[in-house]
Amino acid sequence: FGTMKINSKGHLEIGGCDSVDLVEKFKTPLYVIDEDLVRSNCRLFMNNFTLEGIETEVIYASKAFLNLAICKVLEEEGLSIDVVSGGELYTVLKAGFPKEKIHMHGNNKSKEELAMAVENEIGRIIIDNRQEIELLETVSKKYKKKVNVLLRVNPGIEAHTHEYIQTSKHDSKFGESIFSDDIYSIVNKLKESEYINLKGFHCHIGSQILDEEPFYFAAEIMLDFINKVKNNCDFITQELNLGGGFGVFYSNGDDPINLSSCLKKMLNIINEKTKELNIITPKIMIEPGRAITANAGITLYEIGGVKKTYSGKKYVFVDGGMTDNPRTALYGAKYSGYIANKMNHEPVEDATIGGKCCESGDIIIKNIKLPLVDAGDIMAVFTTGAYNYSMSSNYNKLLRPAVVFVKDGNAKLTVKRQTYEDLINNDIPYYQ
Ligand code: LLP
Repeated sequence: FGTMKINSKGHLEIGGCDSVDLVEKFKTPLYVIDEDLVRSNCRLFMNNFTLEGIETEVIYASKAFLNLAICKVLEEEGLSIDVVSGGELYTVLKAGFPKEKIHMHGNNKSKEELAMAVENEIGRIIIDNRQEIELLETVSKKYKKKVNVLLRVNPGIEAHTHEYIQTSKHDSKFGESIFSDDIYSIVNKLKESEYINLKGFHCHIGSQILDEEPFYFAAEIMLDFINKVKNNCDFITQELNLGGGFGVFYSNGDDPINLSSCLKKMLNIINEKTKELNIITPKIMIEPGRAITANAGITLYEIGGVKKTYSGKKYVFVDGGMTDNPRTALYGAKYSGYIANKMNHEPVEDATIGGKCCESGDIIIKNIKLPLVDAGDIMAVFTTGAYNYSMSSNYNKLLRPAVVFVKDGNAKLTVKRQTYEDLINNDIPYYQ
């Protein structure tokens, strides 16, 4: 991926930096982000999600990976950002990200979170449900501001990896169903609100989607819906956000879509469909998270030891685990990994990469072929740039790793490694 290669020492190199040097300098576990690859992923979206006559916006879903540094990179690349909590909003605001390019999601935003969004005049608030309308009205009334809003709807499509289904059941916790009897009255309520300026609609059909059809299908269903809204509510939709979900390669068997052609085709389909329906083409937005950062990140661990069980299973133990990458334990995710200081050694044995947490599910990779390894070797796990750092925890009081951005042979520390002190910072002693 990106700038990764094997250097003359047989070491893994990323962003022009030898991974062994990175480990020496920053210790392990270490998240390493290839800044150029993040930037080229951004450009892939920015350059291909365009079509003459259609206004578009690419919004990075910050839940995938968020710190102050990435906000600058995204800003420079011209993307917008979506946040789903006060914490994400705080981070993005602290980074000085342009406020009008911030979009706020969440199925249960608190009054305080909404107030923070309204006070800061962020670009869009995505309303999740009928009840939230009143809450937002109370807040915007207080601040005497009319807020720009999209309504999140559920188009009844669920896409995961290689499957998608349209169900008549709508049991997702997100959005209001486009099939419910209530939906037009919700639109009317928003339309008539004194404090809300309804701009359009939002949907998101899943994550790590490896087929292109669900995206086209969702676009068509949403345009049909927009047409119905026009007829039923006399409302002209100005904006349509189709969410994220573009899948990436993790390990053998993953066959991601060709993004550039998929993005173009999406817009072409939208163009055709709006003509067919004779509706005005809304501004089209998408919200990729994983596809921007996942393949730009690797995690480096030091191997502490190797164990062969009575049944012959080989474990390689690393100095992190489900605390820095919970995806294997949580979703059965599959990763690729290499021994960063032995890139030219022949893989000879199947091994399972285990972490140091006190539970059996604390596995990073099940059964991969590795060369012979010793304590002190460096394990590199690929494609950890999304939903790793952002989902990390302090379980077993393990420290959250540092994050470095690498580019042109330079490594920039963007998040410090936690210290033991950080772990008890918020604790209050029983007797004080
Ligand atoms: N927009 C909305 C409203 C979302 O809910 C999500 C992801 C995205 C955009 C970005 O989706 P992406 O392009 O990253 O697929 N923790 C899980 C992924 C959860 C995704 C939730 N929503 C994982 O590690 O696989």
